[in-house]
Amino acid sequence: MERGFTLWFTGLSGAGKTTLAQLVERLLRERGRRVELLDGDVVRTHLSKGLGFSRDDRDTNILRIGFVCDLLSRNGIIAIASAISPYRETRDHVRSMISDFVEVYVDTPLEECRRRDVKGLYRQALTGRVSAFTGVSDPYEPPLAAEITVHTVGRSPEECAAEIIGWLERRGYLDPVATPAVNMVPGNVQHDQQAKEEAEAYSPEEEADVSARLEALGYL
Ligand code: ADX
Repeated sequence: MERGFTLWFTGLSGAGKTTLAQLVERLLRERGRRVELLDGDVVRTHLSKGLGFSRDDRDTNILRIGFVCDLLSRNGIIAIASAISPYRETRDHVRSMISDFVEVYVDTPLEECRRRDVKGLYRQALTGRVSAFTGVSDPYEPPLAAEITVHTVGRSPEECAAEIIGWLERRGYLDPVATPAVNMVPGNVQHDQQAKEEAEAYSPEEEADVSARLEALGYL
């Protein structure tokens, strides 16, 4: 059985967790891996429906996501969690429940998240229409020793996702993908082939969907 693990994204609202988690999910599927993404916004419409944003409710949400990640990752599936998960102690609790746990800190400064304000929630928090908003009127405790820290400012989501995949390869969580020996092939035939395959990887609809998603998140 291939090695399952949990990739746990944490960071402020608007840091880019969902965008990166979705890109990494796609890259892993392209390698033939089985992946499940548990995104805070989605989980809160099902598994965590009805929970709010008090410390207790956030902790319940995170422990539920952690519980499912453990079930999945011990069965060879890569579980990706993408939730603010603002409390260090609670993230460490989840870490202790899961044998292969990789924490990814999406380190986007608050100023940048406020500037992007993808969902308009920072504005509402700053004008008092949303209370207990992470980073404005509620705490966010950054990880002290995340396995991976990703800086998003001035970098494309693709670069950030590649950094995460590279780390996973180096640490043996993923098998490295054989790269074609481009320089040894006359006329770069393999390179052309690789470019062609990459160009064919997404349908126009998927491409538009990805662009729209990135645009909505303020990346384009
Ligand atoms: S967590 O704190 O429990 O990890 P989670 O990631 O599931 O949070 O949900 C965060 C999302 O809920 C935000 O991206 C935002 O869309 C929405 N949200 C609504 N109110 C708040 C709030 N007070 N604080 C943070 N996020 C909020």
